[in-house]
This record gives sequence, structure tokens and C-alpha cells, in this order.
Amino acid sequence: TKGIYDHFMQKEIFEQDTVLERTLLPALKNGLVNEAALGDNAAELLKDIEHVHIVACGTSYHAGMVASYTLESLCGVTCKVELASEYRYRRVVVKPKTLFVTLSQSGETADTLAALRFAKRQPYQATLAICNVPESSLVRESQLVFLTQAGPEIGVASTKAFTTQLMNMSLLAVLLARYQGLSQHRELALIDMLRRAPEQVRRVYSLDNQIAELAEGIAERNYALFLGRGQMYPIAMEGALKLKEITYMSAEAYAAGELKHGPLALVDSQVPVVALAPYNPLLAKMKSNLAEVRARGGQLIVIADEGAGYRDGTSERVLTVPKSGGLISPIVYTLPLQLLAYHAALYRGTNVDQPRNLAKSVTVE
Ligand code: M6R
Repeated sequence: TKGIYDHFMQKEIFEQDTVLERTLLPALKNGLVNEAALGDNAAELLKDIEHVHIVACGTSYHAGMVASYTLESLCGVTCKVELASEYRYRRVVVKPKTLFVTLSQSGETADTLAALRFAKRQPYQATLAICNVPESSLVRESQLVFLTQAGPEIGVASTKAFTTQLMNMSLLAVLLARYQGLSQHRELALIDMLRRAPEQVRRVYSLDNQIAELAEGIAERNYALFLGRGQMYPIAMEGALKLKEITYMSAEAYAAGELKHGPLALVDSQVPVVALAPYNPLLAKMKSNLAEVRARGGQLIVIADEGAGYRDGTSERVLTVPKSGGLISPIVYTLPLQLLAYHAALYRGTNVDQPRNLAKSVTVE
């Protein structure tokens, strides 16, 4: 049931602190990633992996995109992320020591399942499913399984399944990094960072009223642009998807560096631009992108870390979220975007839990 909440989506957003913890803890042993959480023979299958192919649809695909940044930077393995509907119909080149990963909440998405069956005929070293439903086809048919513990997700718009996928992908990256020589000391520090995720998420909950106000401004428009760099680019894509799914507004996400390559032409005083600007080495670049939006009179909503020095301006609102480290900032920045879409849908009076034309699980092509 929805309990004290008005919608399942709202309930599921506010469960994320709990389900993140529930996903993380059983995957640890003595403060380190417990490889047995992925299967009895996980160590043997994963220890010399050099390449990773990730395949998924929709929100799960965005989780894969976020992970590709971590996999390459932390583990030094090459990583390719692809939509299942594209992957399944092309000739793929599989190098030795490649791991095939599917991401899926339901484990029954037709394209993802077909992609796995196709992958099993290719020379992958192993297949791994990151999934939320233990009895699903995807889980049954994969060699290794790393379950998310999000519990049943009822809202068609995926929320808690996504952030728990991000958690498991981070744990997988840490494990692969260990096999590539990451020190135990560094692994403990990374896990410590992941342990802070539930608390950081709870701190974003307290911004709910402020986010509802921002959503009112967005809900009056018909289009919104989301910008991010690095891992925040797929998070921007996820924010745009949430908004279009439940408000029927048109929304797009761009890597901020692409602004001048086209989308800047759309920006005027009628266009809300949601910019994800965490404190990281890309911040200076992000700031110059925001100056371009400002110069065209765009309605900026900047989501930034506490203490990053952003201030509200005439046509600019700043939402500050807790300062978080690299592995968890994608989780922390997802929360305000989910809430933004949720409140915008309330203003527009759309069906939050069951958007028109969409099904929770896409079991046919
Ligand atoms: O069950 P899956 O994770 O495989 O589903 C994939 C997509 O259908 C799903 O994420 C969809 O995009 C959501 N409705 C997004 O909120």
C-alpha cells in the first residue's frame, strides 16, 4: 500500500535511503565487497576481466551509462554501454576477457532478455545480471547475479530501482578495481563513501518543499533542458526521462559541452534549464556553460553542492544538495530530479503512477 503517501512514486522516492542500505550491507564482508554476493564462482569469472559490455533499456540504461565512467576511471577496463534494442540486432565484436552485464528492474524486459540470449552465443567470459526480481527470467538465465534490494516498484517511473542499480554498479566497479590492483586501504575508503549514501539521501528529502516550488515554474512550460557533464550527463538524461514520462512535457538532456553545437538555439526566457553542477574538476567548464545560458535569458535552475558559491539571481534559482564524493554524487543528484518531476506532474494533474501509453514492464518488443 501507499501508506502515508499520495502516490507509489512518492513512496518509492522516500524509500531510497532504506533500500540503498538494504542493497549495500549484504554485499559487504569485513568492510569490503563480498564477491560471493554475485555468485559462487564470481572471483574466478571476474578476476581477469578487461572489458565490459553493458546492455539495458530506459532508466536502467542510464544506470549503465553512469557506471561506464566509473568502470573506466577506477578500474581501467574498457566499457561500452548500449541500448538492448540496438545491441541485439547488430554484429558485435567481443574481445577475450569481456564481461556482459544486463541491468533491469523487472528482469523481464523483452529487448534486454533477447540481448542476453544473443550474448550467450558470443564468446563472453561471463554474463552478469543486475536485477531487482530474484525469480525473473534474466536472473535465471545469467551466470552471475547481483540483486538490487529495492523491493517491489509499482510506479511506472523507475526511482528506487535506479539508485540501487547505481549502488550495485559502484560495488561491481570496486570489485573489478580490486582485481586490477586497487589497495585494500583504498577499497575501504570507497566503501565508506558508499555507506554515507543513505544519510545524504535523507538530507535531500528535507529539500522537498523547495523542490516543489521550483517544479511549479517548470510545470508552466512545455519544454525543459537538462545539462550535465561527466557522470552528471546520464543523470541529466534520467531527469529528462522522468519529467517527460509523468508530465508529458518535452524534455531533453545534453552534455553541457554540446550546448553550442545546437541546443543553445532553443534557449530563451521561456526555457527552464536544469543544470547539474557538483563540485568536481568539471565545475569550471560547467560554469562557463551556465554563463552562456544566462546570457540568453534562460530560466536557470542550478543544482550544486553546498558551499560551491552559487547564489539565486533574477532568473536563476539554486538548489544546494549535500556535498558528496565521486561514487555517490550520481545518487545524490538523482533525488532532486525525481522530486522535480513528481511535483511538476502534480501541478499538471497527470497520472503520476500510471502515465498514459506506458507499461511497468515492457515484455513485448
Ligand atoms: O525493468 P527494466 O529496468 O528492464 O525496464 C526498463 C525500462 O522499461 C524502464 O526503465 C523505463 O524506462 C521506466 N519506465 C523509466 O522510468
